[in-house]
Amino acid sequence: MTESIWVSRPADLYGRRDRDRLGTVLCGIRALFDGFTSVSRWEPSRVKPVRRMQSAVVTKREFVAPDVIALTLAAVDGGLLPSWTPGGHIDVVLPSGRRRQYSLCGPPGRRTDYRIAIRRIADGGGGSIEMHDAFGVDDTLTFEGPRNAFYLGTAERDVLFVIGGIGVTPILPMIAVAQQRGTNWRAIYAGRSREYMPLLDEVVSVAPDRVRVWADDERGGVATAGDLLAGAGPATAVYVCGPSGMLDAVRLARKEHASAPMHYERFSPPPVVNGVPFELELARSCRVLNVPADRSALAVMLDHDPTTPYSCQQGFCGTCKVKVLAGQADHRGRVAVGDDEMLVCVSRAQAGRLVIEA
Ligand code: FES
Repeated sequence: MTESIWVSRPADLYGRRDRDRLGTVLCGIRALFDGFTSVSRWEPSRVKPVRRMQSAVVTKREFVAPDVIALTLAAVDGGLLPSWTPGGHIDVVLPSGRRRQYSLCGPPGRRTDYRIAIRRIADGGGGSIEMHDAFGVDDTLTFEGPRNAFYLGTAERDVLFVIGGIGVTPILPMIAVAQQRGTNWRAIYAGRSREYMPLLDEVVSVAPDRVRVWADDERGGVATAGDLLAGAGPATAVYVCGPSGMLDAVRLARKEHASAPMHYERFSPPPVVNGVPFELELARSCRVLNVPADRSALAVMLDHDPTTPYSCQQGFCGTCKVKVLAGQADHRGRVAVGDDEMLVCVSRAQAGRLVIEA
């Protein structure tokens, strides 16, 4: 429980070296609503993911940290946007054709507008920079969703939320709902300084006595897993959203309570587990790429062609799906694909060489 959360971590707490969110995300709701739905009117039930593309207009753009903008989005016709649940996200289609996922971080279930927040990542895949530069007030944006892979459970009565930097976005609506339900919840929000912790005031304002703030510059260093999990017992449900190092450290520390509920969302690709090297032949460009044991096929493809499509990098959005023309794929994704398809962000070759239509 004393392991530093930064051990072996390629990016800092704020995800500045992580690729753009990409990322992942949870809870049930039915949105009743005839307009904005306040927390007190929120009722849990599953919402069907919305698969069609739709448009929204940016009605507000503000900085919520020096490197984080929040965009408020409304339906172009002034009507209601699709229902969503805390932890849900939308897939934004950028002018370049890139797709990126952003958690909805406005009041839970609100349908008159959505809010998303984007950290500018200088050395990411370019999506966050495009989001910052391309969209101002009155611009129209295309998105798909909402979808949710990071649901807030309805039966958990003792909950700890662990937040790292921009990981606040899916957690903030969860906290609001937990408070409304009367859940015994606590949260720890960690970041390098309060200034660089987006939406901190909103988190604290839900219930100041339930929120611990870990600002590295005040505490004299980064939080350990023990710091983050202080007070969490075997029956405590832990929800974590932040950079990979934080997630991995918390997961490792929670192994001592193997049956305890733990939920998390990544903003960066998971590490490759039990990978073996293989060759990836790109049929269209007649290139053969060597995929090492510790890298994904997508990462290697991006070295070759930075415009290779991807979004979540975790095998659940389907954006990186390609056709397999020869060879046996080792499927590791969470969405179903055809026998002759694979998700290059997580799936690999069973052995030897894979030939894909790319
Ligand atoms: S990028 Fe989402 S499934 Fe591969």
